[in-house]
Amino acid sequence: MIEQAYVKGGTIVHVKGPVIIAEGMRGSKVREVVYVGEERLIGEIVRIEGDRAIIQVYEPTGGVRAGEPVERTGEPLSAELGPGLLGQVLDGLGRPLEVISERAGGPFIIRGIKSPTLPRDRRWHWLPEARPGDLVQSGDVLGSVKEGPINHKIMVPPRIGRARVLEVYPEGDYTVEEPIAVVEHVGGKEQLKMYHKWPVRNPRPFKEKLDPSELLITGQRVIDTFFPIVKGGTSAVPGGFGTGKTVALHQISKWADADVVVYVGCGERGNEMTDLLHTFPKLVDPKTGRPLLERSVLIANTSNMPVPAREASIFIGITYAEYYRDMGLHVVLTADSTSRWAEALRELSSRLEEIPSEKGFPAYLPDFVASFYERAGRVRVSGNRDEIGSVAVIGAVSPSGGDLNEPVTQHTMRYVGAFWALDKDLAFKRHFPSINWLRSFSKYALGLRNWWINTTGHEMIDYRERAMSLLQSASSLEEVARVVGEAALSDENRLVLLSAELIKEGFLVQSAYHEVDTYCSPKKQALLLRTLLEFYDRAKPLIEAGVPMSKVAEMRSLGLLRRLKFVPEDEFEAAVKEALSQLEAEISSLLAEVR
Ligand SMILES: Nc1ncnc2c1ncn2[C@@H]1O[C@H](COP(=O)(O)OP(=O)(O)OP(=O)(O)O)[C@@H](O)[C@H]1O
Ligand SMILES: [Mg+2]
Repeated sequence: MIEQAYVKGGTIVHVKGPVIIAEGMRGSKVREVVYVGEERLIGEIVRIEGDRAIIQVYEPTGGVRAGEPVERTGEPLSAELGPGLLGQVLDGLGRPLEVISERAGGPFIIRGIKSPTLPRDRRWHWLPEARPGDLVQSGDVLGSVKEGPINHKIMVPPRIGRARVLEVYPEGDYTVEEPIAVVEHVGGKEQLKMYHKWPVRNPRPFKEKLDPSELLITGQRVIDTFFPIVKGGTSAVPGGFGTGKTVALHQISKWADADVVVYVGCGERGNEMTDLLHTFPKLVDPKTGRPLLERSVLIANTSNMPVPAREASIFIGITYAEYYRDMGLHVVLTADSTSRWAEALRELSSRLEEIPSEKGFPAYLPDFVASFYERAGRVRVSGNRDEIGSVAVIGAVSPSGGDLNEPVTQHTMRYVGAFWALDKDLAFKRHFPSINWLRSFSKYALGLRNWWINTTGHEMIDYRERAMSLLQSASSLEEVARVVGEAALSDENRLVLLSAELIKEGFLVQSAYHEVDTYCSPKKQALLLRTLLEFYDRAKPLIEAGVPMSKVAEMRSLGLLRRLKFVPEDEFEAAVKEALSQLEAEISSLLAEVR
């Protein structure tokens, strides 16, 4: 990307880390991309003061000196959109990391290299759909190519508007630089290629934003059942060090019923990104048994890239996500972690000597958070076709010291539909996912009543409410027990504690590493939760009949219920029946004892 026409330039007068000041820049615009210094490092103008431009540079500026030139491009930071995005590992500016490492002799030395995002030598098998004479508009499909498992639609780019098709190239193998159609619009005749560029900070157009109504199935019980996210929805995953943010995002990337995954990694420590570069490409797509990367784009902000690049990477990522959405696909974008990106804003703001707001973050932090999450959505796509696509956005937040009251978490909370508060005490007890059921929320949950009935035949929202109220009662009882001791609780109350424990152990705790437990279908979630709730309903009359709690807690069927989650889907219904009939038998014999 970013090999734009030379416009004119200025001269560096001052270098302050990633921020440089250049003069002779009259006529340039805020957000214009520039090439800085002899090495032509990529930068973006952030402010203009008369003849001077303040530029944030996206590459290390060591060695750059006053007097060196600044080249203007006249264009904003843009992403290349076309076949060849999937399967790629890109840096924060959309440059392929492999290519960079080959040329620069190491994966992390990338200064001043302008490699295009899309491979220029690869051929794609073009299947034309449009015909000469067709009247088309932006978003209409001209044809398609197969990109990994995806049917990649080649659409009329947004800037074209209405046009007449003059020529469509025949089926065959083309590179992205070869024309595949010629159209005529108000601006004249134009050859179209399989790719186009789009300024990353502008949302891509669509016809209409729709209400979210469909669960984004993640296969993670505590998420889908208690704090769901929908297709086109937003969610934040705040959590301190080691609480399970990355595992949660990997699980979602792997299991979510989305067509395409965009994963943006903004690591702080060098080894975090190395980790990501090693683990993500090894994730296996459960749908195909092939690498997940075949239908993903991985953006990795390498540790030697200066902080401002992190901020750009998140917008590059969301632009890719919107592009696949425009094909009528469902996309999930995960960002790990948005705190790193907010810190980039803070650092830049302080270098620009802006007046800081809370905790040193700039006053426009909330606008930035909003401009990211607002690009999520379920939409009717552009063009003359009735198709729906979606982008769901899930951002990890890593508040320092795990303090959820800090500004990034607090502002994020205002813009997201679901909030999964990870809890260090749960993580310490190895209760994973460590999503705290009292501090998390999802605004989508109640709207999914019909979805659950239609998909599973279960009144899941009722189960959810009953389970939640058991968990809440248990939590207050635990408080009481802490003061007076558990022995002082009545047997009724101890049964509540036991039943809540069963829901925690048997439902909320879910191992990402267990062959069966790693994914749980909505149908299994519903039947499992209903079955676990039945324990409480059936055990309650026992206590009322005077059976001591110690006997209730010793029932062997409890163990079966606790382990039901490990039973594979195809044996699950039978296992539920067996567990319930054991329970029934034990209950009858306990009742017989007291009578
Ligand atoms: N769902 C899960 N199932 C089993 N183990 C888990 C699960 N989630 C997290 N863990 C355990 O917790 C560890 C830490 O998780 P993870 O690396 O995701 O935390 P993090 O919040 O991303 O940490 P950091 O702050 O360092 O980025 C994992 O290595 C794993 O052992
Ligand atoms: Mg992590």
